[in-house]
Amino acid sequence: MKIVFFDAHAFEQEAFDSANNSVHELVFLKPNLNAQTADLARDADVISIFVNDSASADVLEKLASLGVHRIALRSAGFNHVDLKRAQELGFRVANVPAYSPYAVAEHAIALMLALNRKLIRANNRIRDLNFSLDGLVGFDMHGKTAGVIGTGKIGAIVANILHGFGCKLLCYDVQENAELVKSTGASYVSLDELCRTSDIITLHTPLLPATKYIINEERIRQMKRGVMLINTSRGGLVNTRDAIEGLKNGTIGYFGIDVYEQEQGIFFHDYSDTVLQDEVIARLMTFPNVLITGHQAFLTHTALYNIAETTLYNVSCWAECKETEHELAAKKEHP
Ligand code: NAI
Repeated sequence: MKIVFFDAHAFEQEAFDSANNSVHELVFLKPNLNAQTADLARDADVISIFVNDSASADVLEKLASLGVHRIALRSAGFNHVDLKRAQELGFRVANVPAYSPYAVAEHAIALMLALNRKLIRANNRIRDLNFSLDGLVGFDMHGKTAGVIGTGKIGAIVANILHGFGCKLLCYDVQENAELVKSTGASYVSLDELCRTSDIITLHTPLLPATKYIINEERIRQMKRGVMLINTSRGGLVNTRDAIEGLKNGTIGYFGIDVYEQEQGIFFHDYSDTVLQDEVIARLMTFPNVLITGHQAFLTHTALYNIAETTLYNVSCWAECKETEHELAAKKEHP
């Protein structure tokens, strides 16, 4: 099958070429998928998209008019696809439900440690031959209370690592993870209680209408002064303007993010020769206690290889007129 990849990056092509073994025709394109670029999918049997592409209703209609009815996501998250419209138009859409929850969980922990022990600042200082320790005081993670919001695959791994550090664990999820409670002694509590009593709060729920701005002004007001807030899940879980206020008044003592609600069009691009237009992220970057990475939590060799394997597996199932178990839309062959 001819697969046209939108938002294709050099870092993923090697894994795809290797996993493909010349079975499918792979066409890697740099542009993001949107209403203006959908035409590039002409002649494709399948398109493959990433987290900052948009498969909104108008884009799906455009693709359908070109005769393209299959979308292989290179992500677990599918909040960028209008699944209802996809279903109506007879699309097949499949995702990569798990490629390495460890990669994301370990990145969340990396953000915590780097923020706590001020590693970026220390490294910059040392490179300037400044060996002073003033301003680099951190805290012991051992004995602190960590609140994990969302205890699915990634959240549970984060909770287990924090348990290893000797943290007391509070969890919030619509579905309790009995195994996690057994292995770590974690307690499930209300979101209010988690916010009120945690020293560290880390977010691991999908972005859904119910979780949009789950961290907002009201919740931040409940938090302990100096709380550490980590978001490696989806930018829309946190109201960024409210987080900025929390940082300004000292409620949020540390803010580590791998995702940003307006990241589309910013993350994954090199703007080092231009002027940054986004005032909100620009303000975030001025805080010494904010650490931002550009949606790289998934970025390990293991994860990239697993993404390539599962994406191509989904396409191979379709090539053989079979359903894949990772199907999110139409359970029937499209016209
Ligand atoms: P998962 O599906 O295993 O776990 C999600 C958990 O959230 C489940 O336990 C579910 O019950 C819970 N949840 C759903 N709605 C909720 C609500 N309203 N309130 C509280 N909890 C709720 O997903 P997984 O694999 O752990 O991934 C979590 C998220 O991580 C993904 O949805 C994605 O947004 C993000 N992610 C980020 C990546 C990155 O590179 N930064 C890479 C991969 C995933």
